[in-house]
Amino acid sequence: MSNMQGKTIVITGVSSGIGADTARLLRLQGARVIGVDRNEPMLTLDDFVKVDLGEQSHVDAALEKLPARVDALCNAAGVPGTSPADLVARVNFLGLRHLTLKLAERMPEGGSIVNIASILGAEWPKRLDLHKALAETSSFEAGLAWLARNPVPQETCYQYFKEALIVWTITQSQKLFLSRGVRMNCVAPGPVFTPILGDFVQMLGSQRVEADAHRMKRPAYSDEVAPVIAFLCSDAARWVSGINLPVDGGLASTYL
Ligand SMILES: NC(=O)c1ccc[n+]([C@@H]2O[C@H](COP(=O)([O-])OP(=O)(O)OC[C@H]3O[C@@H](n4cnc5c(N)ncnc54)[C@H](O)[C@@H]3O)[C@@H](O)[C@H]2O)c1
Repeated sequence: MSNMQGKTIVITGVSSGIGADTARLLRLQGARVIGVDRNEPMLTLDDFVKVDLGEQSHVDAALEKLPARVDALCNAAGVPGTSPADLVARVNFLGLRHLTLKLAERMPEGGSIVNIASILGAEWPKRLDLHKALAETSSFEAGLAWLARNPVPQETCYQYFKEALIVWTITQSQKLFLSRGVRMNCVAPGPVFTPILGDFVQMLGSQRVEADAHRMKRPAYSDEVAPVIAFLCSDAARWVSGINLPVDGGLASTYL
C-alpha cells in the first residue's frame, strides 16, 4: 500500500461516489484529506469546505479556507448532462480549472493533480481546435465569454466539457511540470455505480446503453476507480504526467 503520510490532499465531489471512495482510501493510506463539495459529507474527513464550484466567487471564498500547502488535488465533483449546459460548463470545466490553477500555486515540487474525465470524453480529437481555444481562455469569466460566442448544444454538453477537460489537462500539464514540478493527469472512467449513473442512462438513451452493455462485464464500483486516482496522486507516479488513463474494464478498447 502506498504511503501518503504527511501529504495534504484536497478532494472535490467528496460527498458521494468516486470522490468519497477516493477520500476513504487516501485517508487509510495516511493522507490528510480535505473535502470540498456543495453537499455535506457522509464520511470522516480531516476538514471540509462547503462550496458551489459553479460560482467563481464561491471558489475564491473556498480558497481562503483551504491550506497554504497542498500536495495533491483530486477533481471528482461533476454534474451529468441532464443538468443545464451552463451549469455543466461551470462545474465540470470552468470552476474546476479556476480551483486547480489557484491550488497548483500552493503545491510543492512533486505535487499532483488528478482530473476525473470520462470515457464520454473520448472524442476530443474531433473538436480539438475548439477545445484548444477554450483551454487558452485566461479565466473563469473569459471562458464564459468564449462559450457565449461558441455555444455548446445541451444534448452533448457533458461529452463536450469532459473532452475540454482532457484537452486542457494534456495541453497545460507540461507547463506545470516544467515550471513547478507539478504533475497533472486525467482518469477516464466508464460507467460507475454511483448516484449519477441513472442520469447518464437518461442522457445517452437506451440504444447507446444497450449497445455498451454488450461490450463490458458491468459498470465499475467506485472503489475500483479510487485506487487508480490514488496511484496518480502518489510518488509512485512521479514520472507520469499529461495522460488520460482509462479506468473502464476495457470498454474504450472495444470502440476501435
Ligand atoms: N458515475 C459514472 O458513471 C461516471 C463515469 C465517468 C465519469 N464520471 C465522473 O466522475 C466524477 C464523480 O462522479 P460520481 O459518479 O462520483 O457522481 P456523484 O454524483 O456520486 O458525485 C459527484 C459529487 O460532486 C458534487 N458536486 C456536484 N456539483 C457540485 C458543485 N457545483 N459544487 C460542488 N460539488 C458539486 C456532488 O454534490 C457529489 O457529491 C464526475 O466528474 C463524473 O462526471 C462518473
